[in-house]
Parts: sequence; structure tokens; C-alpha cells
Amino acid sequence: MALATRALPASPAGVAEAARLLRAGGLVAFPTETVYGLGGDATDPAAVARIFAAKGRPRFNPLIAHVPGTVEAEAEGVFNDAARALAGAFWPGPLTLVVPAAPGCTVCDLARAGLDSVALRVPGSALARTLLAAVGWPVAGPSANRSGHVSPSTAAHVQADLAGRIEAVLDGGPAAVGVESTVVACLGGAPRLLRPGAVTRAMIREILGAAIAEADAGDAARPVGPGLLASHYAPRARVRLDAAAIEPGEAALLFGPETLPGSAAARAVLNLSPAGDPTEAAANLFAALRALDATGAPVIAVVPIPADGLGEAIRDRLARAAAPR
Ligand code: TXA
Ligand code: MG
Repeated sequence: MALATRALPASPAGVAEAARLLRAGGLVAFPTETVYGLGGDATDPAAVARIFAAKGRPRFNPLIAHVPGTVEAEAEGVFNDAARALAGAFWPGPLTLVVPAAPGCTVCDLARAGLDSVALRVPGSALARTLLAAVGWPVAGPSANRSGHVSPSTAAHVQADLAGRIEAVLDGGPAAVGVESTVVACLGGAPRLLRPGAVTRAMIREILGAAIAEADAGDAARPVGPGLLASHYAPRARVRLDAAAIEPGEAALLFGPETLPGSAAARAVLNLSPAGDPTEAAANLFAALRALDATGAPVIAVVPIPADGLGEAIRDRLARAAAPR
């Protein structure tokens, strides 16, 4: 399957063409405020299968169904009070809610990995919502990267991974947030955090009035959160966390104003945020991992990242990148 992957501009004509392709079963990567999504018709298992093929996913993980608004979301899933409160607070935005599938749910089984739940998200990106409204039904969208590669925060990242495998990329410029949405399950009982992300625990606590529960063993068995596969965020280089010094020839990933001993002999040095701002660091994370990996350094040494704010999601992604494989 050697397609010419078209670059579509963020104009009315570009969006209309992206919607036309998606409605016809094509694959179109689209920008959201978190990362680029590999879009396909969520109601059409053939389109969803093409998503898995294009990604080279090792298994059929459940995918997020993107919709333009809360009304469309509530047609697909059953929202309890907690789900409604979280949607009210954070939609449109970087939150995904896993809720029981509604009786009339149009998101196909393959996109839901056979589960009786559905993951729904109303993205914060106005361009994304315009596209979704033009399509007229849910669009499945895992991050638009080959399986095991880092998530794309620019159209160029998408092209680097998926050129020739998808019909088009809608170019909305760099993704502002840079890490994926927070995934919260509202399936009865207390809501549970399945994946940390751009909406932080503290933000959720403010809405729920209590700390959010962790995913439990039942979640893991369902199987919930296979996006949490240990090798999901994997550069080619080995990733060494909490580095106190850089060894000669290593690539260094810094955060904050300090440099590390040995930086002068590093293959390359990048700083996620010289000012020590976790939000800025999140936006730079995947591009920095890609750039350091591209130097061919055998090891990417990463300084300790504080866990406050988006720091938790950054640490989570880095821990996956460092997992043995
Ligand atoms: O920011 C994002 O969320 C991006 C943009 C493109 O929207 N999308 C994204 O999709 O990260 P993906 O497929 O890489 O991650 C979907 C996450 C996975 O952790 C998956 O296991 C979980 O959502 N998920 C989806 N459906 C689920 C379900 N029914 N039950 C439990 N977890 C589910
Ligand atoms: Mg992904």
C-alpha cells in the first residue's frame, strides 16, 4: 500500500477534503491540542482495521472516539453524574471518558476492542471539532505514530512515521499540549484514572471533591488501558532516568536551569524547559525524544523531572520509554 500522503491545509477547503476522505473510509491524521490523531471512521470496522495496520499495532487496543460536542458524546455513551461533571469541566479539552456504551452506540466493536464500554473525547482544538462536525459521526484516533514510536506533535512527525500509509494529514501546526489526554473510567463506582495526562489529578480532584482512584485489577483484566503497554513510548536509544551526570557520547535531556556534569562531552543536549515549566516541557517532550534519538546516541540520559502538574504525565511517558524491551 504505497499511497501519496497529502498535506491538507487548515483552511475550509482542507477541512472539507479531510472530512470527505474520512467519510469515504480513508485515513486522515488530524491535529488535536494534545497530539496528532490517526483518524478513521469509528463506525466502520474496515477503516478501524486500516488504522491498526497503518500503526503496525501488536494488538487491537480500544481506541478513542472523537466527537464535536457533549451532545454527540451522550448519544454514544451512558454518562453518570461523575462523567457529566468531568465533561462539563474539561470538554472541549484533553480528557477522555470511558463510559458504558449506549444502546445506540455507533462506535464499532473493533474500535472498542470488544468491550461494552466506549472511550469518548471532545478535543479542545477548534479545527478538530470543525472537522468532526463535518464528518458527522465519531472518528477513531489513536496517536498518529507507528506502534512503539513516540507520539507526534507536528504534521512533520506524522509524515515521518506514516507517509505512504494514510491518505492525508491535516496540518494544524504544532500540538499545544504535547502529551495525550487524561483517560478516566466512569463505569459505576468511583471514577478511576486509567492514564495520567494533560488534565491533572489536582484538576480532577477539584471537580470530584475527592482524590481520583487508581485503575484497579479489574481494569487491567478487562483489558483496560492497553495503551499502557510498557513498550508503548519507545525511542531506539535506551532511556536512562534520573541521571545525575552524563556519560561521554550519551544524549542528554534536561529540565530547568541546571546543566549536568558531563554535558560538555554529550552527543547532544536538549532542555525541555530551561525555565522549569512542566507545561512547556510536555509540549516539547516527544519532539525532544525524537531529535535525541535521531543523533544515534546509544543512551538518552534524562534528569529527574518533578511530578507536579504535567510532570506526572511526562514521568509516566518517560518511564514507558525506559521500560526494558
Ligand atoms: O490525546 C489523546 O488521547 C490522543 C489524541 C489523538 O486524541 N489519542 C490517543 O489515543 O492517545 P490512543 O489510542 O493512543 O490511546 C487511547 C487510550 C488507551 O490507553 C486505551 O487503552 C484507552 O484509551 N481506552 C480506549 N478505550 C477504552 C476502553 N473502552 N476501556 C478502557 N480504556 C480504553
Ligand atoms: Mg499512542
